[in-house]
Amino acid sequence: MFTIEGLSKKYPGGVTALAKIDLQIDGPQVVMIIGSSGAGKSTMIRCLTRLIEPTTGSIKLGDIEITTLGKKGLRKVRRRIGMIFQEYNLVDRLTVMENVLSGRLGYVSFWQAYRRKYPPQDIAAAYELLDRVGLTESCDVRADNLSGGQRQRVGIARALMQRPDLLLVDEPTASLDPKTSRQIMRLVVELAKERGTPAIVNIHDVALARTFADRVVGLADGRVAFDGTAAEVTDQVLTDIYGEEDWSTTIKRGDDNDADDDDDNDETFSSKTNRESSAA
Ligand SMILES: Nc1ncnc2c1ncn2[C@@H]1O[C@H](COP(=O)(O)OP(=O)(O)OP(=O)(O)O)[C@@H](O)[C@H]1O
Ligand SMILES: [Mg+2]
Repeated sequence: MFTIEGLSKKYPGGVTALAKIDLQIDGPQVVMIIGSSGAGKSTMIRCLTRLIEPTTGSIKLGDIEITTLGKKGLRKVRRRIGMIFQEYNLVDRLTVMENVLSGRLGYVSFWQAYRRKYPPQDIAAAYELLDRVGLTESCDVRADNLSGGQRQRVGIARALMQRPDLLLVDEPTASLDPKTSRQIMRLVVELAKERGTPAIVNIHDVALARTFADRVVGLADGRVAFDGTAAEVTDQVLTDIYGEEDWSTTIKRGDDNDADDDDDNDETFSSKTNRESSAA
């Protein structure tokens, strides 16, 4: 249903961020992409909707070839793909509810969103999602008054308002504390599963990936170094993906046990800030 073939990206200046990526996603599964900083995770996820133009390769949603679409076709296909990024651009001056409702419109301007009259079924769906992400009480609060975790919950609700055929998620938790990031990640995964929406999720935290993924793909130097189930992510696999020194000290400490949400000292968490902060 979603097929990536020979996807490559060479940035102007010479960096080859992706080198012939092949990936196929059949049916509803949560695929988590892991790999060192600079491995190409963000480049890949942004290439899929052409927020970054791929250099070569094919990306197909169903039988629609995304790489050759014109502006209008691209806008249409983007509406079918929900995106949740680390700093998802909420409209600060709009309320939580208005931000969520704007997901119905796909990629439209602030003013279009602002003036649009939404059908009652959209409003009902928005209330349901806000309840699901735990923001019912805040539905009239302006987005700029929210915490980081709350903002990300709005971003999640808005992406799901699109009723997407595919969810793309780029480190949604990288600027959140460990407890919140775990809650957010669980929410993304649960919602994707409930709705049968396939999801591709970039994630730094291997422990979280092992806990929540149906499938893990390891990127190294812009190539697929591993593709398997969470259970198949062994120490050797991590060494293949991250190199010898990298992972054992910084990654392995993660608790694979997700039983409680109160593991505030989860040192597997990386608080690094993403270079590319904006989605559009
Ligand atoms: N706009 C750009 N211009 C030139 N090179 C870039 C650009 N964006 C990314 N790169 C390079 O492409 C490679 C892949 O970067 P990318 O951001 O996709 O990695 P990543 O796996 O998402 O890393 P991180 O885990 O730090 O988010 C890196 O070498 C990076 O420096
Ligand atoms: Mg990245």
